[in-house]
Amino acid sequence: MRGAPSSALQLLLLLLSRACAAGADPLRTPLDPDVTPRITVLSSGLQGCRRFRSSALNYSTLLLEADGERLYVGARGAAFALNASDIADRSARTIVWEASPEQKRQCMLKGKDNKTECFNHIRFLQRFNSTHLYMCGTHAFKPLCAHIEEKSFVMSSQPEEGKDKCPYGPRTGYTALIIDQEMYSASRYEFRSYPDIRRNSPAPTLKTDDGPTRWLNDANFVGSTLVRQRSGAGDDDKIYFFFTERSPERATGSGHSRVPRVARVCKGDRGGHLTLQKRWTSFLKARLTCSLPEYDFQFNVLRSVHVVHADALLYGIFGLEWKNVKASAVCRFSLTDLHEAFDGPYMENQNSGWKEYTGKIPDPRPGTCITDALRARGINVSTSLPDDVLYFVRRHPLMSQEVQPSDRRPLLFRRSTHYTHLAAHTTQGLDGHTYRVLYLGTDEGWLHKAVEVGGHLLIIEELQLFDEPQPVASLVISAKQMCVYVGSASGVLQLPLSSCSRYASCYDCIFARDPHCAWNGERCVEVAAQADRSALIQDIQNGSKGCENTQNDVAQRSRSVRVGDDVLLQCELSSNLATPFWTLDCSELQGYDLTSGFRTGTDGLLIIEARRDQSGLYTCYSVENDVKVPVVTYNVTVRPAPPPAPAVPSDDFLPAPTELPNSMRPFPSPPAPLLPHSEMLSPRNMQAMYLSLITFLGGLCVVLTVVLIYVGFCLQAGRRGKYSIRAAAAAYPKRRSRSRKQQRSCSRAGPEVKTISSHCNGNGAVQDGGFLQIVPGEGHTPPAPPLPPTPPRPSAECGLSATLPSVLRRMNGNSYMLLRQADSESASPVGNSFSEELNKILEKRKHVLLLPKPDESSV
Ligand SMILES: *[C@@H]1O[C@H](CO)[C@@H](O)[C@H](O)[C@H]1NC(C)=O
Ligand SMILES: *[C@@H]1O[C@H](CO)[C@@H](O)[C@H](O)[C@H]1NC(C)=O
Ligand SMILES: *[C@@H]1O[C@H](CO)[C@@H](O)[C@H](O)[C@H]1NC(C)=O
Ligand SMILES: *[C@@H]1O[C@H](CO)[C@@H](O)[C@H](O)[C@H]1NC(C)=O
Ligand SMILES: *[C@@H]1O[C@H](CO)[C@@H](O)[C@H](O)[C@H]1NC(C)=O
Ligand SMILES: *[C@@H]1O[C@H](CO)[C@@H](O)[C@H](O)[C@H]1NC(C)=O
Ligand SMILES: *[C@@H]1O[C@H](CO)[C@@H](O)[C@H](O)[C@H]1NC(C)=O
Repeated sequence: MRGAPSSALQLLLLLLSRACAAGADPLRTPLDPDVTPRITVLSSGLQGCRRFRSSALNYSTLLLEADGERLYVGARGAAFALNASDIADRSARTIVWEASPEQKRQCMLKGKDNKTECFNHIRFLQRFNSTHLYMCGTHAFKPLCAHIEEKSFVMSSQPEEGKDKCPYGPRTGYTALIIDQEMYSASRYEFRSYPDIRRNSPAPTLKTDDGPTRWLNDANFVGSTLVRQRSGAGDDDKIYFFFTERSPERATGSGHSRVPRVARVCKGDRGGHLTLQKRWTSFLKARLTCSLPEYDFQFNVLRSVHVVHADALLYGIFGLEWKNVKASAVCRFSLTDLHEAFDGPYMENQNSGWKEYTGKIPDPRPGTCITDALRARGINVSTSLPDDVLYFVRRHPLMSQEVQPSDRRPLLFRRSTHYTHLAAHTTQGLDGHTYRVLYLGTDEGWLHKAVEVGGHLLIIEELQLFDEPQPVASLVISAKQMCVYVGSASGVLQLPLSSCSRYASCYDCIFARDPHCAWNGERCVEVAAQADRSALIQDIQNGSKGCENTQNDVAQRSRSVRVGDDVLLQCELSSNLATPFWTLDCSELQGYDLTSGFRTGTDGLLIIEARRDQSGLYTCYSVENDVKVPVVTYNVTVRPAPPPAPAVPSDDFLPAPTELPNSMRPFPSPPAPLLPHSEMLSPRNMQAMYLSLITFLGGLCVVLTVVLIYVGFCLQAGRRGKYSIRAAAAAYPKRRSRSRKQQRSCSRAGPEVKTISSHCNGNGAVQDGGFLQIVPGEGHTPPAPPLPPTPPRPSAECGLSATLPSVLRRMNGNSYMLLRQADSESASPVGNSFSEELNKILEKRKHVLLLPKPDESSV
């Protein structure tokens, strides 16, 4: 890891340069590890979605038991018991538990934020025994805990002291478990205290040790789990805690100041007798590694974990500590590898830093739980462990071996997404394989559903959960209800694990590779709901086979245009992974560039200045997983140009001739030879030129209006965050489909989609050969009255400051007007923001590198 700083830089360059090279290739190159969600669903398109809301905020704690009928929710100032099969039904019960006004006043006197911190945020809600639940709240910086009688859902006693069980603030890293009515919690409890792993009851209360070798350094806890011991050696159950802490291992010189960790303690630990009195005698910790090996780059922050106990697997979401880099990686670990790390060599803090300990290890092995073998030697409780063992434990909390993820690389990497939580659902595919489907929540309120195939996570769909972007604060799955529940600042949401009816055709159903879905010959259906599965078609491994003999509906349209017109043949591909493929009269269209007279994007094919020889039958295919599926055909007839019209209404573009339906159109006259430009300057043509000029000026007004509205829109969108553009798109259904793609190229750093009609180059999706803007022109009616203009301000985000329309045209074949922007100018605004971004990061990076070396005594 000596090369870490330079490799970090390398990754940053990767993260950013990809964004800039975006338009160059719509296909992902093998080098690019980023994963694109196959389909995008806006909140307006969610199916079977139920929401629970109340006057409370911050629904951040969810409790759902395996066979539970109720979903328990901890929010700010209230707890709820919801009907798990329909959280929106009227049976919801509420416990109102606000901080007292006096306590709020005290909180404000302590200088805390009265808009967020001086409330009772319920941070803990779990089962206590068969009849009671237990909850803890921050209670305006004076934590309290209380029992809840489950049946009636009321507090069964006065709240009790919670300062050793619950953090003081709503955002402090925290995890806790109740095991056999004992509570284990890990947090930085008070503002100035050290982070600590505690068992609060029964006596003796246990803590981590803080000297001479501090066991935890600035730790931020994200999760914990109990692993029951199944071996016959009488070994104890173990509790694992997951966190990120400040890195003390100077000798390994990773260059990162933070490092993801797992720590474990034994459930039966009772502390030491003299050494480590009221301290854990079984505390050990190890590093969790999640890296991109080809860039020699380590993710150094653990954000969330999810344990699949049935398969002894751990999933972790990892990120980077730089706030302005959103990258996320998902790594999978086996719990066996965790055990192995704790059975391996220890690290030792010597004068020169942390090194693997090679000396003699005392017996019994330090940090192990009490086993039958020890009991046979008379050591039946941790207080009877020999002093030299406990002394060793105190000095050697860190293991030398790092826990490596499966395949030594992430299952998923996303450059521009910040995942906050995940949950997994295991299901059986029709091919007999067991598939794990992961649900990943983002900081902007999106849910990514991903299936693990061949060591990679394929994102089946991305769902917008909320109109207002807000982080996913918690995520649980009910296999019984086949639902996923999401907690957030504004409410709780319940979604079915799958919505197969979203896939309209056999190929769509197969391409999705959703283990929950299969094609039954007519529809895409939920596999779980089918009694007879023999005829179902599914191909999760390859996502390509099974639909060869099914009928595929191909839309048929016709276009009749005049020579010289620009024609857009629309072909929306529902999948973000599909690429378009066009044929003209059954032969492939060659060379999609300006000279060929064609341009293609994911939303259609543009015929520029149509010629008569471009008439014919165009077919658009969607190509995905090496399968070509026809989507739409266009019978395009290019008619000779008509004589110019005699008069122009001053406020319109053009006195366009009424378009007749194809069937009524007179037989086209023989093709007029295309005249060279100079020969067109007859008086008749001069008149046409004036017309064009007037048209041009009128059009320019419209374009400027559009630009103004657009700038306002982008500025506003920029202020509200990236995904808000989607939210806005949802509000304008007419523009939605275009806006989706547009948003993709706007705000995603990624070479994902290239559209003809995209008109925003936000994060730098440079369209090759400049970009085009297509504005709905509503047939030949004049454009809508201009909205009050927003003053145009230079905005690098929209790339408009340097670009002005250079060509304006009218398109007769359909109701679109085309605005083409100068090719050469599109790069500069992007370049600026890119170098700015890089500079910012390097600035930050410099700061990180200049941090003083960790204090020797603190490690
Ligand atoms: C929960 O909702 C389901 C379906 O809406 C209903 O059948 C059931 O009776 C409800 N349970 C309770 C406790 O209200
Ligand atoms: C919070 O405190 C500020 C000043 O400290 C005060 O102006 C504001 O009204 C308070 N807000 C609430 C909700 O109490
Ligand atoms: C569960 O715990 C509560 C609170 O301590 C207690 O009142 C209740 O009797 C316990 N229930 C059982 C079944 O032990
Ligand atoms: C541990 O062993 C001692 C005898 O060696 C015995 O007296 C004691 O009760 C045992 N304690 C437990 C918890 O089993
Ligand atoms: C609670 O909700 C408010 C309002 O949406 C939000 O601003 C705040 O960040 C949330 N706090 C936490 C701790 O989630
Ligand atoms: C998937 O494709 C590979 C090669 O492309 C082939 O070897 C394999 O048999 C296919 N798997 C299935 C389940 O069709
Ligand atoms: C295309 O349309 C023209 C007339 O508009 C018609 O003559 C021709 O047969 C059509 N071609 C096909 C393949 O439908």
